[in-house]
Amino acid sequence: MKIAIIVPMAIEAEYYRKHFHSGRKEMFGSTEFEHFSVNSNDIYLGLSGIGKVQAAMNLSSLLTEVEIDQIFMTGTAGSLNKGVKKGDLLLVSSFAYHDAHNTLAGNYVEGQIPGEPAEFKLDSKERNEFAKYLTAEKVAYKEGLVVTGDAFVGSDTQKAVITANFPSALAVEMEGAAFAQVAKHFAKPLVALRAISDNGDDNANEDFDQFAKKVGARAASLICAYLEKMS
Ligand code: ADE
Repeated sequence: MKIAIIVPMAIEAEYYRKHFHSGRKEMFGSTEFEHFSVNSNDIYLGLSGIGKVQAAMNLSSLLTEVEIDQIFMTGTAGSLNKGVKKGDLLLVSSFAYHDAHNTLAGNYVEGQIPGEPAEFKLDSKERNEFAKYLTAEKVAYKEGLVVTGDAFVGSDTQKAVITANFPSALAVEMEGAAFAQVAKHFAKPLVALRAISDNGDDNANEDFDQFAKKVGARAASLICAYLEKMS
C-alpha cells in the first residue's frame, strides 16, 4: 500500500523525522517528501506548510503523481469547546471552513464553499480501522467537527465569532478542511488526528509555543506505532 503522511509544521513533524530515518527525498510540487518503507508499505512523509493553500497545493502535488491509497494527517489544534482540553486527541469526523461565508450567495450554510459540501465528512473503513486501533490500545480520543481557516485563533474575541458560527466545533486549525477537500476530489481516505495545544483564546500564542511540540509528537507517535502494526 502507498501511504501519505502530511503535516503542516516542522515542529509537528519532528517526531516522524526522528523515528523514521530515510535518506530518500523526493520533490512533489514545491514540497520535499521523505520516502521510506514500513513493513510492506510505501510511505511518503511531507511537510505541507501552513494554511489552506499550502495544504491543498502540496497534497495535490503528491496525489497527482503517486497513486496513494491512504492519507494520514497529524498536527495541533486550538480547542473551541470546554470539554476539549490541552493534550486531548481528536480523531476528526468532519471539517468545515470557518472563514467561508457564502450564505448571501445562495442556498449555502456557514463554512460552505459553493459546489462543495457543507462539511467534509471523513468516514472511511481506514478511519474505522484506526479508531479501532486507538480503542484497542486504550488511547482516549474525541471525535467531531474541526474547523479550518487562514488565521491563528489567538484571542477570546476571534474565538467567540467562530464558536457562534460553529457551536458544535471541537477545535480550530489551519489546514484540515483543505486536505479533506483535496482528498475528496481524489477519492482518497483521509485520517486526521489533531492534538490540542491551546484554547484559541488570549493565551493561545504562549500555550502553542509551550505545548505544540509535545502534543504534536504524541499524535505522530500514534501514527508511527500504527504503521508499524499494519501489514
Ligand atoms: N493550531 C493550533 N492552535 C491553533 C489555533 N489557536 N488557531 C489556529 N490553528 C491552530
